[in-house]
Amino acid sequence: MRYSVPHPIPYQGSKRRLATAILSFVPKGRFRRLIEPFAGSAAITLAASRAGLCDEYLIADVLPPLAALWTEIVEHPDILCRAYRELWESQFTGDKNERYNQIRAEFNAGHDPAKLLFLLARCVKNAVRFNPSGDFNQSADKRRTGTHPDTMEKEILAAHRALQGRCRVRCGDFRQVLEEAGTEDIVYLDPPYQGTSEGRDSRYFQSVSRTAIVDLLTDLNRRDVQFILSYDGHCGDKVYGEPLPEHLNTHRVLLNVGRSSQATLNGRNADSVESVYLSQRLAVQGVPLEPVPLEHFAQQMPLLSLK
Ligand SMILES: C[S@@+](CC[C@H](N)C(=O)[O-])C[C@H]1O[C@@H](n2cnc3c(N)ncnc32)[C@H](O)[C@@H]1O
Repeated sequence: MRYSVPHPIPYQGSKRRLATAILSFVPKGRFRRLIEPFAGSAAITLAASRAGLCDEYLIADVLPPLAALWTEIVEHPDILCRAYRELWESQFTGDKNERYNQIRAEFNAGHDPAKLLFLLARCVKNAVRFNPSGDFNQSADKRRTGTHPDTMEKEILAAHRALQGRCRVRCGDFRQVLEEAGTEDIVYLDPPYQGTSEGRDSRYFQSVSRTAIVDLLTDLNRRDVQFILSYDGHCGDKVYGEPLPEHLNTHRVLLNVGRSSQATLNGRNADSVESVYLSQRLAVQGVPLEPVPLEHFAQQMPLLSLK
């Protein structure tokens, strides 16, 4: 039997496609809990829960309305489905883009999680963008109306069923969240990309420095907490970020995620490669140094179907 993985929050940078590959390094039953402190759309938690890899899950994000959205999915999915449906239908009563801008202004004033879900479903590239004063400022994608409420309801309820009774949600900085991590936990880390979050294009609420990540991993190693980190990657000869320092004793696996749409747009033919770093005790024997195609992992972990 194959399990499909729910996907309620459309989110740029979601690790949904990579979930099978990433989770192939987590032996079933070895860890009691999976912690995802840079949750975003929590693609790894949802996939792990569908495959029954751990008994408990902890998801956290520094963005308060995103954490609130996860709380709604876990605790009050019906209320969220209704609120999303009303917002979605309200677009058709007048000018769609004006209505989007109005909902965005209301979101910025009140931080209502259902409004964030609508904005994410409806905005350009499903990408969270904030201006320097912390207001969501991404524009509407004029060619789309956002996920239909029937589909959204299916995804929300499926995510709710996958997480209900076994997932806790926290809002906070990753360092604070990971203070509670122990040797029975596996931590999946997907911080904002070095290559895209430290320059002018500050797409996330808060960016995370490389030093902060190196300090965190040093501390996790000291406490014998096992982790998987998605960090840098490259496309053709364009390299994002430097590999991590050797003293962290991580094992780097390169995932070939296929043709890069950005490279295709720029008239180049290049595959994107993403690095995953495994903590020392997770490191497996025999992983090749060359980029491994995602299909290889689908064969190793055939339980999950990512549609
Ligand atoms: C690359 S995204 C994670 C995407 C996620 N893996 C998925 O599948 O959707 C990074 C996330 O980290 C969050 N974030 C940024 N700074 C953070 C911090 N200091 N502590 C915790 N979360 C943070 C952002 O709000 C964003 O949702």
